[in-house]
Amino acid sequence: ALVVRHRMRCSGRWARAMAILREFEENCGTPIGKLGQVADAMTVEMHAGLASEGGSKLKMLISYVDNLPSGEENGLFYALDLGGTNFRVIRVLLGGREGGVVKQEFEEVSIPPHLMTGSSDALFDYIATALANFVATEGEGLHPSPGKQRELGFTFSFPVRQTSIASGNLIKWTKGFSIDETVGQDVVGELTKAMERIGLDMRVSALVNDTIGTLAGGRYYNPDVIAAVILGTGTNAAYVERAQAIPKWHGLLPKSGEMVINMEWGNFRSSHLPLTEYDQDLDVESLNPGEQIFEKIISGMYLGEIVRRVLLKMAEEAAFFGDTVPPKLKIPFILRTPHMSAMHHDDSSDLRVVGSKLKDILEIPHTSLKMRKAIVELCDIVATRGARLSAAGIVGIIKKLGRDVVKDGEKQKSVIAMDGGLYEHYSKFSTCVQSTLKELLGEEVSDNIVIELSNDGSGIGAALLAASHSQYLEVEES
Ligand code: GLC
Repeated sequence: ALVVRHRMRCSGRWARAMAILREFEENCGTPIGKLGQVADAMTVEMHAGLASEGGSKLKMLISYVDNLPSGEENGLFYALDLGGTNFRVIRVLLGGREGGVVKQEFEEVSIPPHLMTGSSDALFDYIATALANFVATEGEGLHPSPGKQRELGFTFSFPVRQTSIASGNLIKWTKGFSIDETVGQDVVGELTKAMERIGLDMRVSALVNDTIGTLAGGRYYNPDVIAAVILGTGTNAAYVERAQAIPKWHGLLPKSGEMVINMEWGNFRSSHLPLTEYDQDLDVESLNPGEQIFEKIISGMYLGEIVRRVLLKMAEEAAFFGDTVPPKLKIPFILRTPHMSAMHHDDSSDLRVVGSKLKDILEIPHTSLKMRKAIVELCDIVATRGARLSAAGIVGIIKKLGRDVVKDGEKQKSVIAMDGGLYEHYSKFSTCVQSTLKELLGEEVSDNIVIELSNDGSGIGAALLAASHSQYLEVEES
């Protein structure tokens, strides 16, 4: 009788856990009709954000980049890439039209988490010091010419209101950074002061978002690149707009007639987005409640955390992991998206990767195959929603540019430069982005839309933009 009662209790729990999972799945649904609405809403918000400052949740920031790399860029340049859990310092030797990228060296340094929420000076000093250490490793033939100041392209991957190509004020932090005193400050000023404090003589020649860097880097290699998307810790997109289609731009019309726009699409929000109670809770408890809603259901910083929250609910309300709730499961952000990806891609018949992740990270020693299957399914639900919404965002841009139709059989290629660890390493995610693009645009159009993975294009891109905005340019040309 005891055994029977135990079984009955278990099957009741299982049914409850599955009910939680099914309800979540239903609320995450992204049928094609809904994705179409999201894409259209994206296009509408793009127009609104271009029309006036504050006209939309989409900031549609003016980058001051009105010329993308031409291939003529020449000389030694540095780049610094700050925007996620790691930052990179890069040294590039550019050889003009003939030489291309002659040499490229980089170093990756992780950011101690306490600096992400500490003081502005501490963060910028840390960065400047790492840069100085890297400069000290300049090898044979990789020095600036005597008397020439070193120049830097600064990739700063947060929303910035630019005041020129090489200056701009931080609008707000995103992605787990939160340092109040930096908000409103010119981040180039902050970096320059830090470099002065430690005695590093270097000038910032270009300040760019990672999307802009990726777009510039992508265009350098492929003239068909028209937009860049980041799917990494955060998510965002940039694209080339006609200057005349930017009513809020009151400056001179650039010669090229074009201006690159940093959309900050992570802050996109629409009633068409499939949001669940878990997303709402995650948002409320985040460092930036009410902001970056699109980012919070798509990007790498959050996907694992959403999975954790659903699992926690299954544990608490349906004893999914047994009578006690595994204590580790209560720790926010303990389950990272790379862990989730590893579980999602587990193709062993007994799902042993899932088992080992649960054991190593959540300290849950035993799970049945049935439970592990349910967890893989949960990963699939969360990743699929994120990937399909990313595709809808891309379609929004394609539509804004009028490239969603094939004009008189004309085969105009549109290349999207893509960067970010989520897209690069989570293959079920990237495969789903691509198949959803096809589904949304149809075979004929999507044949002309190519996503090109540009591995750290943003670093090279920033160096290229530093080169084309170098202080020595005019001197050399005259
Ligand atoms: C966040 C930032 C944005 C950046 C993106 C990808 O959304 O606000 O500036 O481009 O992450 O790194």
